[in-house]
Formats: sequence, structure tokens, C-alpha cells
Amino acid sequence: MVKLYRCIICGEAYIGASPPANCPFCGAHIEYIVEAKEAPVNFDVELSAKDRANVEHALKVEISNSAFYACAANQTNNPEGKILFKALGKIEAEHASIWRKILKLGSVAPGGDACHTENVENLKESHARETRAINFYRKAAAGADHPRIRQLFDALVEIETDHLHLSEERLK
Ligand SMILES: [Fe+2]
Ligand SMILES: [Fe+2]
Ligand SMILES: [Zn+2]
Repeated sequence: MVKLYRCIICGEAYIGASPPANCPFCGAHIEYIVEAKEAPVNFDVELSAKDRANVEHALKVEISNSAFYACAANQTNNPEGKILFKALGKIEAEHASIWRKILKLGSVAPGGDACHTENVENLKESHARETRAINFYRKAAAGADHPRIRQLFDALVEIETDHLHLSEERLK
């Protein structure tokens, strides 16, 4: 029998017989996916000045990374790379939308980041971008004033680490 699940990180819903190992929208791990009727999803957070500055930076990072991946999905010279970068681009766009909701912004301008035609160059740049994102999210989580903001930054550290492993495997 199928059930209605909801990811408490991005708020998106999932219909299935069991919860997915990772949210198909934002990549959050299974412990954040619960039955929709009991999902504590909250984007209405009172932000301290420090949390606000970190969330604003996170939004920029995700817009930039999602633009890079969308570019790479089009330009990279490897068929599997195209699929990988398209998937990552959609997930980073979902991350941008989490921060957009926290900041109560209606819409945000897309990024104009460039990419490469050589697949290995895109994998290297993916590795560098994910490393920077992880380091930033880890610091932001440790210093977060609001528990919901800490929860989001913690979940994002895990998700971006999964992304890092995808490029690491392919750069071996
Ligand atoms: Fe992300
Ligand atoms: Fe990522
Ligand atoms: Zn999610």
C-alpha cells in the first residue's frame, strides 16, 4: 500500500510504498522523510543577524552551483556526465528554493555561471564547489542560533558530501 511522505528539509511530498533512502528533490537522508500528516515542516523562522547572513550566502552558493550544473549538463562531452550534472542542477535549485523560502523572497534571478566542455574539468569544478559548500555549511551549522537553521545546514552537509563522493568516484 502506498503512503504519502514528506521531506522535512525541502517540504516536498513523495508517494510510495516506503520512504526513499534520499529525498528525490533535495537529497535529504531517509531520517528526514516522514509521513506527511506528521511532518514538522517550517520555513517561518525568526532569523538572527548571523543566521540571516549565512542563509543569504547559502542562497547565493546554491544559485551559483545550480547554474554551473545546468551549464555542464548541456556542455559536457560525456553522456553519463550530462545525466549527473542535470540531476545535481535540479537538486541545487531545490536547495536554493529552501533558502528562498526561509528568506521569504518571491523569486530570485538565475545564476549565469560558466562551465567546461571537458567532462573531467566539470568533475573537478564540481568537486571544488561541493567542498566549499560543505565547509561553509559545516561552519554555519555549528554557529547557528535557531534549531531549524542548524537542522537545515546539518542536512545540507550530508547531501553535499554525497555530491562530493559522486565526483570523487569519477575522478579516480
Ligand atoms: Fe546544494
Ligand atoms: Fe551539491
Ligand atoms: Zn527534500
